[in-house]
Amino acid sequence: MHDLRDVKGQESAKHALEIAAAGGHNLLMIGPPGSGKSMLAARLPSILPPLSTEEMLEVSMVQSLAGELMGGKLATERPFRTPHHSASMAALVGGGSRPRPGEVSLAHLGVLFLDELPEFQPGVLDALRQPLETGEIVIARANHRIAYPSRIQLVAAMNPCKCGGGSPGLSCRTGPRCAADYQARISGPLLDRIDLQIEVPAVSAADLVLRAPAEGSVEVRERVARARKIQLERFAAPGSMSGRTNGACSGHVLARIAQISRLERGPTYRFRYYHQHLRRIDAGS
Ligand SMILES: Nc1ncnc2c1ncn2[C@@H]1O[C@H](COP(=O)(O)OP(=O)(O)OP(=O)(O)O)[C@@H](O)[C@H]1O
Ligand SMILES: [Mg+2]
Repeated sequence: MHDLRDVKGQESAKHALEIAAAGGHNLLMIGPPGSGKSMLAARLPSILPPLSTEEMLEVSMVQSLAGELMGGKLATERPFRTPHHSASMAALVGGGSRPRPGEVSLAHLGVLFLDELPEFQPGVLDALRQPLETGEIVIARANHRIAYPSRIQLVAAMNPCKCGGGSPGLSCRTGPRCAADYQARISGPLLDRIDLQIEVPAVSAADLVLRAPAEGSVEVRERVARARKIQLERFAAPGSMSGRTNGACSGHVLARIAQISRLERGPTYRFRYYHQHLRRIDAGS
């Protein structure tokens, strides 16, 4: 399996990946070509906790409905789905003349990785809002409706602009609107559902000749598992009515566990402090 140790430098991006894994937060990585976004995303499964037995059953049921249960054996790996940006609506959210689950359901209890996010059809991206909000996707037909589970962690990556500007020695060739137009292809409501949005800067030659980092996926995965355990206990409390992770935490529970002081409530600080609080919670403090 891929290991986080392969990623040289990019300490903040790796930290963000760890927080996303610990809290089950949706994550968007924005950076120039070759900065390692796809490489980082591919290493997320190596730091996520293994599936519980109950989760294995849920994942297997969806795979079975889609005809993807290999040899009838129980699925033991957390799903990591990477649909191409040319994917149709039916392929992504499910449906078709004989309805079957789409990628968003095949990623249930795992990760849906959308690489080159703005290249997906806008309608397809909009259709993701409902499953991200409710954890299930409803396909309506003339005389019946089908609901498939889709509690996913969305991880997305994109270049800052369509021409791929921003990498070393390659500035935007198309002009100032290039980045703005490209980024505007992602709707505000979808962005609202992505807790962590980070820049992944280009790696320098000096970073690439560094020795492999001392810490790899095994060490990070242990911290993630500790943070998940704390969250399980927190959300198992009677009346919490939240999901199982900070990423799925309901507003009123969040207000109770991550109280923001008056000083921190200013518009400039709100975003930063909110994430610092989440980080502290994820770290188990
Ligand atoms: N921090 C890094 N440490 C080691 N290798 C790296 C790093 N960043 C990038 N690379 C190398 O560069 C290759 C390209 O990286 P990757 O495909 O992840 O970039 P990307 O940000 O997804 O680019 P694009 O926007 O073109 O999809 C990787 O396969 C890897 O070999
Ligand atoms: Mg890539």
